[in-house]
Amino acid sequence: MAAAIKAKDSIAVVQLHHAGMRAPAALIGEQPHCPSTDEETGARTLSTGEVGALVEDFILAAKRAEAAGFDGVEVHGAHGYILSQFLSPEINRREDEYGGDLAGRSRVIFDIVNGIRARCKPDFNVSIRLSPERFGLRLAEVREVAQGLMAEGAIDFLDMSLWDVFKEPVEEDFKGRGLLSYFTDLDRGDVKLGVAGKVNSVRSANQCLDQGVDFVLLGRAAILHHDFPLQAMGNPDFQSTPLPVSADYLRAQGLGEDFLVYMSN
Ligand SMILES: Cc1cc2nc3c(=O)[nH]c(=O)nc-3n(C[C@H](O)[C@H](O)[C@H](O)COP(=O)(O)O)c2cc1C
Repeated sequence: MAAAIKAKDSIAVVQLHHAGMRAPAALIGEQPHCPSTDEETGARTLSTGEVGALVEDFILAAKRAEAAGFDGVEVHGAHGYILSQFLSPEINRREDEYGGDLAGRSRVIFDIVNGIRARCKPDFNVSIRLSPERFGLRLAEVREVAQGLMAEGAIDFLDMSLWDVFKEPVEEDFKGRGLLSYFTDLDRGDVKLGVAGKVNSVRSANQCLDQGVDFVLLGRAAILHHDFPLQAMGNPDFQSTPLPVSADYLRAQGLGEDFLVYMSN
């Protein structure tokens, strides 16, 4: 790792989710909703007033996290959840101020992060997770939103979830260089850039840092090794154990029985 991680450098951040149309009716007990009616999931269109309430709900969730003692929040704007549903020109066909051009489709995101910034304590850490592909998202647009968030100083961290930090973009026009490079070359100002997706070894983490990212995020590697950062600091050759692993292996890493069921899916 480029820099040693010290306990005093760590902060506790909670992620704020809203699945929108990806929430199954059977699970949430009501018809799911999303920016525009979606036949496949049976989701209904949110009214303009309900979108305003959605923005307020995210801000109130951040305030609850602050009251509970967290140092910050990460707004989940990735993985096809509701904020990326708003960003997507395929999913968001609204004609009010929350749809249409990119300014309209990204309005909820800016309203949420600016609202959290304004209404939580000044040093409250505000970050956002975005993903640039799938769900009808366009790389150029997600890049523009990322740049806008950085330029406005609305966020402290940008967490780009790429699924594979070493892949090339899916969109033909952008092939020929790594997907990651479309975010490392943004004007970051004081904002820190993190990336996630198949970082499973000290080597792969260092490759990301060498490409100019400020930090990496671990998904599966941190589930397979609850102490991945500690092991990584002591061993430059450390890499995550190959998949698949047994339930007993995961139990030994501290996973509870409910999480084991989730993982088996
Ligand atoms: C079991 C599991 C649960 C996850 N839950 C979340 C989540 O709640 N929020 C989120 O942003 N990403 C979630 N992810 C995605 C990871 O954060 C990460 O972006 C993804 O797994 C790719 O990184 P990796 O290759 O290091 O696993 C989850 C992944 C797994 C495997």
